[in-house]
Amino acid sequence: MNWGMKNRLSRLMPNGRCFFMPIDHGYFQGPTRNLERPGETVKPLLPYVDAIFCTRGVLRAALDPLIDKPIVLRVSGCTSMVGEDLANEELTTSISEIIRVNAAAVGLSVFIGSHYEKETLKNLSTLVNLCEDYGIPVMAVTAVGRELEKREARYLALCCRIAAELGARVVKTYWCEEHFEKVVQGCPVPVIMAGGPKCETELEVLEFVHDGISKGAAGINLGRNVWQSPHPVAMAKALRSIIHDNASVKQAAEIYNKTKGKK
Ligand code: 5RP
Repeated sequence: MNWGMKNRLSRLMPNGRCFFMPIDHGYFQGPTRNLERPGETVKPLLPYVDAIFCTRGVLRAALDPLIDKPIVLRVSGCTSMVGEDLANEELTTSISEIIRVNAAAVGLSVFIGSHYEKETLKNLSTLVNLCEDYGIPVMAVTAVGRELEKREARYLALCCRIAAELGARVVKTYWCEEHFEKVVQGCPVPVIMAGGPKCETELEVLEFVHDGISKGAAGINLGRNVWQSPHPVAMAKALRSIIHDNASVKQAAEIYNKTKGKK
């Protein structure tokens, strides 16, 4: 692995583990609850996360260039919640722009099994070819659009493996209740867990994240379950303890409860 690639990955995943904070939701769903002002949403969470996942538009408009957190730049899009098909994504951002904003990595979605499977996998291959020249890791997001029921081990394992075979250095996918270890074991690059819609309780989030980490996931890319929580900082601290300090669910819940009471 070249120096730049290794350096970027080690900043993003200290000790091989990571907590990425996505604030890219607006790229297809517009203003999202608690993300109306993304710069304000993310500010108190910065000490607890390893990187921010956002588009170049939000990066320029809402994030201070003096922050020292690595940026994972979302570089796919051009579809919306109200359009015909969320899967019909294109690459949105040139390699010059990726380098200009000093991205530590880039992320794009692939929609395997959809009508646009081939196009989105071609986007991945093209992006890998461009980014590998500059030592920039590509994170593939195995997206399901509105079809949340697709999130089961066989399908997720297939998606992760294909994304890794095409050159993704990291794959982001969904946690699943059964056989999640098979998803991780079948993928030759680190797998990190997506959040999805907000869970009913904070404990539920801590439980699934702990389960996924214990089954080999390298970390999380969790947005709504953190910044739509009534106590985002407490949630971020609790999740960080699972990822970086191997906390149990009980220990993480204690951190959450202790922190949420503080002003
Ligand atoms: C969409 C994404 C977003 O980053 C994603 O939605 C993650 O955030 P959340 O935890 O809120 O689901 O990649 O495919």
